[in-house]
Amino acid sequence: MVENEKVILSGMRPTGRLHLGHFEGALKNYLQLQAEGVLCYFMIADFHALSSEYKTPEVVKENTRELLLDWLAVGISEEHAVIFVQSDVLEHFELFTVLSMITPLAWAERCPTYKEQQQELPDRDLATYGFLGYPILQAADILLYRATHVPVGQDQLPHLEMTREIARRFNHFYGPVLSEPQSLLTASPKVPGIDGRKMSKSYGNTIMLSDPDQAIERKIMQMYTDPQKMRASTPGNPDNCVVLALYRMYAPEEISGIESECRAGGRGCVDCKRGLIPVLHKVIQPIRNEREHWAERPEELEEILKSGAIIARERARGTMQMVRKAMQWRNEINSK
Ligand code: TRP
Repeated sequence: MVENEKVILSGMRPTGRLHLGHFEGALKNYLQLQAEGVLCYFMIADFHALSSEYKTPEVVKENTRELLLDWLAVGISEEHAVIFVQSDVLEHFELFTVLSMITPLAWAERCPTYKEQQQELPDRDLATYGFLGYPILQAADILLYRATHVPVGQDQLPHLEMTREIARRFNHFYGPVLSEPQSLLTASPKVPGIDGRKMSKSYGNTIMLSDPDQAIERKIMQMYTDPQKMRASTPGNPDNCVVLALYRMYAPEEISGIESECRAGGRGCVDCKRGLIPVLHKVIQPIRNEREHWAERPEELEEILKSGAIIARERARGTMQMVRKAMQWRNEINSK
């Protein structure tokens, strides 16, 4: 089926509060898309989180709220996007089951993220049927909304490819119903964590969007700088310094002066770090304030998810009707 309209679907797993890396890598992208007026579905993928966090479902539930707060805090808005929770739309599970029937086991088993995640999370038992089905559930998410574009990071490309393969297989068996989505990769700056590695929760090197001022200050003072620069007067290498990388991102107007001073040995790392404090405060404080604003309004949060689910469900139901029709399956479901 050909639809001309651009439709975006993306999701995040609720596994904890978001950090600056998420902000630069994914959220700014979401904001840009919603600002363009494109139809956007932004989904909290709670069942995807459950596939690895099944021992602590109550934590997934709490993190669903945290993720919503982070989204609203950065400016994702129900006025411009459909914000919803995966498990509020039962059609995900129906399509997931249908797609599971037609997906060869080998496709699921060869998906690189399956083995990678098992290695990355050795304290979880991920040798489960549900975890193997992770990319198939993701395919259901995407195909259910007839998404044309899916903004994702590089790591998700195998899942997108598998989504397209599953859509083709469905269409081959039952007729042209499911549209193949494209990935939307946008170049975004890599945010270094305070230790110089990629910012990531598993490295414990993050600056959270909800960090209080003191935490930000403490983290800045711990930041990795050029290890060769022993004294303030030693010339430094700005390419090898987290502090400078963050100035580059958030105070671009100051960076050339700072860099040349650093190279010339006219600038000590401690002073340099102190100067970064107000720069990062200016980034985080408005986000944190907005987060606090929403945190005090639990009924409004509920309302946002409720109306998001209603809109999402409507589109999902439409797709399932087409799916059942193509399969010549029963169309009236006795759900009452
Ligand atoms: N697997 C994605 C991630 O870990 C989250 C996700 C679930 C998703 N369903 C999706 C992303 C659908 C895009 C589209 O980041």
